[in-house]
Amino acid sequence: MAEKKIILTGDRPTGRLHLGHYVGSLKRRVELQNSGEYDEINILIADDQALTDNAENPGKIRDNIINVVLDYLSVGIDPAKTTICVQSALPALHALTFYYMNMVTTARLSRNPTIKAEIQMRGFEDEGLPAGFFTYPVSQTADITAFDATVVPVGEDQLPMLEQAREIVEKFNRVYGETLVLPKAMLPENETQRRLPGVDGKAKMSKSLGNCIYLSDDPKTVKKQVNGRMFTDPQHLRIEDPGHLEGNVVFTYLDAFSTEEDFREFLPDYKNLDEMKEHYCRGGLGDGTCKKFLISVLDKTMTPIREERAKWEKDIDAVYDILQEGTKRAVEKTNATLARVRAAMRIDYFKDRSIIKEWEELLRKAD
Ligand code: TRP
Repeated sequence: MAEKKIILTGDRPTGRLHLGHYVGSLKRRVELQNSGEYDEINILIADDQALTDNAENPGKIRDNIINVVLDYLSVGIDPAKTTICVQSALPALHALTFYYMNMVTTARLSRNPTIKAEIQMRGFEDEGLPAGFFTYPVSQTADITAFDATVVPVGEDQLPMLEQAREIVEKFNRVYGETLVLPKAMLPENETQRRLPGVDGKAKMSKSLGNCIYLSDDPKTVKKQVNGRMFTDPQHLRIEDPGHLEGNVVFTYLDAFSTEEDFREFLPDYKNLDEMKEHYCRGGLGDGTCKKFLISVLDKTMTPIREERAKWEKDIDAVYDILQEGTKRAVEKTNATLARVRAAMRIDYFKDRSIIKEWEELLRKAD
């Protein structure tokens, strides 16, 4: 069953994707896609999941589906290698969610640390908690298992989701026999990929804080965010003063984005980031120089992404077809899993007429 190497990952379409998504997951997805090591790569645009805390605002989700697809295509997700699909158009996921609900207790769901944190963040404790939101880990298990995913590349915050999924899979297989593939999480490789802070140094990039750099931002906006809002070292008042790297967002971003080639091209005074850091800490390197370098580095990363995006934006018809095509493939795949699940649960009454014999036998015996 699980000989194939299958990736499933997903995003909630609640906004445009930003540099945090890029270093945290998108870049890796493109590498995995191009590694040729996987039999299948699937990316799910989780609009149903997004609705669990945006039920009053389906228009926002609808709008952001196109934003997210354009972000995927512009960073190099290739629809010939990766299936991009829309969750709400996959009815098998809804059915699987319903069955998996019985494989988990409300007590267990309440203990899920991701859900706990998210409930708090959204103020659901006071407002009331939508049952759909509370149970989205179950629906995410449906996403993962419907594709027979062996590997799920996610951020650290999603680890409890994977743990929950594995428990549901184990329980299901225990109750109904080996049916579902047990998935594994794949975490970002290094610290800088784990979490890129907002330009203001806050742990999370968030639209409401205005501390994001979006993949689709133009050069002027990027420059404004770096020069105007990016946090450095508050103790570094004069250029000669020793600077500190701790909590210095400019250097966190340089860690994530700069290469030795960038130094040769834009800042040949230093061979690499280590040399630059050393000078900064010693004193004598100004924040302005560091920011200017970072702007060049970001521009170099983002220019090809912008160009690719501009191309696709002119052909939304083609983007629509990609999404529809991927979703069609996903419908087939997830329906096949649902059929397997229903067979394991022995609720596939209308698969063929063989149950008639079974029922007749039963009635004969009862006589
Ligand atoms: N919960 C994920 C997030 O907020 C998105 C997601 C939905 C997902 N379905 C998934 C991730 C399946 C991995 C696998 O980022």
